[in-house]
Amino acid sequence: MSTIALEKVAIIKTLNNIAESGLNVFRDDHFTIDNDHENPDAIVVRSFNMHTMEFGRHLKAIARAGVGVNNIPVDKCTQEGIAVFNTPGANANAVKELVLTSLIASSRNLFAGEAWTKTLGKEGKQIPKLVEAGKKQFVGKEIKGKTLGVIGLGAIGALVANDALQLDMNVIGFDPFISVDTAWNLSRNVQRALTLDQLFAKADYITVHVPLTDDTRGMFNEKAFNIMKKDVHILNFSRGELVNETDMKIALENGKVGKYITDFPNESVLNMKNTITFPHLGASTKESEENCAIMAARQVKEFLETGNIKNS
Ligand code: MLT
Repeated sequence: MSTIALEKVAIIKTLNNIAESGLNVFRDDHFTIDNDHENPDAIVVRSFNMHTMEFGRHLKAIARAGVGVNNIPVDKCTQEGIAVFNTPGANANAVKELVLTSLIASSRNLFAGEAWTKTLGKEGKQIPKLVEAGKKQFVGKEIKGKTLGVIGLGAIGALVANDALQLDMNVIGFDPFISVDTAWNLSRNVQRALTLDQLFAKADYITVHVPLTDDTRGMFNEKAFNIMKKDVHILNFSRGELVNETDMKIALENGKVGKYITDFPNESVLNMKNTITFPHLGASTKESEENCAIMAARQVKEFLETGNIKNS
C-alpha cells in the first residue's frame, strides 16, 4: 500500500455524533473536522445508512465506530478503492454486560415483574397483599447448571462465554471461523459444537453474536426452532434480520421459544408477552462510545498519514 502523505489538511466528516474523545484524535494541524463538507477525505460514522449517499471524489476511507458494517456499501467502496474500517472489540464489554444482565433478568421475570408492580400504584393500601401475590406470579428460573449456547465466538461471544462459566452455566459455543486470538483467550471449559444443530439441540439459552450475511440471515427459523428444546430463551443483540419473524412469532405462540430478548424490536413480535425488547442499546454506554470513536479515528488518521490499514 503506497503512503498517502498529507500534503494538505485532510477533511474529516463525522456522522451521528461521534464521541468527543474520538474527535480529539484529529485535533492537530493536519486535520479539520467539517461535518457539512461535500468532499471529505474520510468519514467516521456510527449507524447512519450510507447506501444511498453520494461519495465525494476525495473520499479515501470510511470508519464505522461500531462492529457491523451493514450500513456501509462495502462492495462499492472496494470498487472505488475506499478503505473501510470497523472497531472490533471496542464495544464488546458493553454488549456482554447487556447480554448477561438480560439473561438473568429475563430468567427471573424482572422485566414483567417491574411492569406489573408499576400498575399497582392505584391500589393504595392493597399494595402489600398484591406484592405478595406477585411472588407466585413471577417465579423464575436460575441459570446455574443450565446450558448457554453462544453462536459466534468473536470478541463479544468469547467474553459472554467465559463470563457465563463464572455464573456456573455450562457453555457450548459454535463458530466455524474462530480466530487464533479468540481461541487462545477462550476458556477450555467452553465446549465446542461441531454444527449449529448440535448447539440448538443442547441449549437452554441461546445468544447470537454474528454479523448479518447471506449465510446468517434468517438462521433462527422453523427448522432451527424444531431442533431446539422447548422453552428455550433466545437473546439477539446482533441484528434483527438473523431471525425469521414469522417463524419466531409461531415459536413464541406455541411456547417452543419461552422468551425472545432483543434490542431489535420488530412489529410482528413486539407486543407478545414473552418478547422482551429494547432500543438498540447493546453498545450504548459512554465507555463503549468513546472506545469505538477513538479506535475509528486512530485507524483513519494512521491510514491517511501512512497508508497503513490497521483494523484494531
Ligand atoms: C455494532 O454494530 O457495533 C452494534 O450493533 C452497536 C451499534 O451499532 O450501536
